[in-house]
Formats: sequence, structure tokens, C-alpha cells
Amino acid sequence: MSTHRTSLKNMESQFEALIDGVLARHYGTVKHFVPPALVAALREHLLATFRSGAMKPAGTGRLSTYDQNLAVRGDVIHWLEKDHNAAEKMFLEHIEQFIAYLNRTCYTGINAYEFHYALYPTGHFYKRHRDQLQSDAGRKFSFVLYLNEDWLPENEGCLVLYPEGQPPVRVLPEGGHSVFFRADELEHEVAPANRPRLSIAGWLKQV
Ligand code: OGA
Ligand code: MN
Repeated sequence: MSTHRTSLKNMESQFEALIDGVLARHYGTVKHFVPPALVAALREHLLATFRSGAMKPAGTGRLSTYDQNLAVRGDVIHWLEKDHNAAEKMFLEHIEQFIAYLNRTCYTGINAYEFHYALYPTGHFYKRHRDQLQSDAGRKFSFVLYLNEDWLPENEGCLVLYPEGQPPVRVLPEGGHSVFFRADELEHEVAPANRPRLSIAGWLKQV
């Protein structure tokens, strides 16, 4: 597992880049939030979870029927837990380090988090939305880590961000890339892709 570890200096420079991005232009991105070996291990666990049938359609909170829901978002999800396997434990501990850094440097008062795997089957999408739902005002920051191998621009499936007063920004969901933004502020959408699209999405919360 030693190949999964990152030096403290490198880790903190990734955290800084995400935070600086939010302060400067409403979103932060980095290319290697965690080492490639951990991205690969998380991808394998996502795919094993999918094959076992444990990934379920995500709710939208408002819409009741499966078809109504599918018109808004088409991913299937499964929540991460530290006791599932070493990769999920390592990822969530990395997130805890990020939260500690964020609270120490920005006084953000984050005291909880939740993260799920997401798989968007070919052609599925998530319409433009904000992540802080009325039913979940505790969500302060959103975070996504992509788990796709060799994603090409022609595969589409970009995350499209709509920062206020700026042109839309398209992020290719290549493995290891991460995006960070305020959950109550930034509207965004997931465009359909021509191959299954894998990620971890989650929220830093104040509860
Ligand atoms: C979400 C979401 C973005 C992505 O799950 O709320 O917007 O790029 N995900 O997967
Ligand atoms: Mn979202």
C-alpha cells in the first residue's frame, strides 16, 4: 500500500489548489488528488460493487417515479464506508486530512462528510442543478473524483460548471481529476457520455 501514499507537501499543495480555485473563480480542480494506484483500486471496487447489483438509482429528493427521476439524473450510486476495504478507508482518510486543512486555514467548521460511488450508464446524465438541497442544508462543499481510465474528449460526459458571470467550464472526467466547489452556490450538470462514466461524488458538511 505504500504506493498509495502521497508526501505531505504534495498533498497540501493539492489542497491549496482546490481552495485557491474556489476563492478565485468559484471552483478548484487538480489532476492528481490521490495517487493513480488508489484511483485504480477505487475503480475496481466501484466495478465490483456494480457487478454485485449493489449500486442503486440515486433519488432526486423531489420526484417519485423511476421515469421522472431518470429525466433528471441517470446514475446509480453506492455510499463509501471506511470498513468496506482498504481503498475506501484510504480515500476517506485523505478527505479527513483535506477537511482538517480546510478548517485550519479557512475556519470552515466542517464536521461531517458523505461520499458515494456513481456510475452513469452510456447516454445518461444529470441535468443542471445545485447540490445543496432544501432537505440537506448541511452540504457546504461538493467534491468529485473521477475514476475513468483513458477518457478521451470524444467520449464526452463532461461536468459542465456555470460560475456566475463567467462562461461555462467543461471538465473532462479523466481518472484522478478532482473538482471542488461550494454546494449552495455553483450550478452544474453532467453531460451524457458514450461509455459508462465512473466517479466518486461527495459533500463536506456542517451538521
Ligand atoms: C452530483 C454531480 C458531478 C459529476 O453527483 O451531484 O453533480 O461530474 N456529479 O459526476
Ligand atoms: Mn451535483
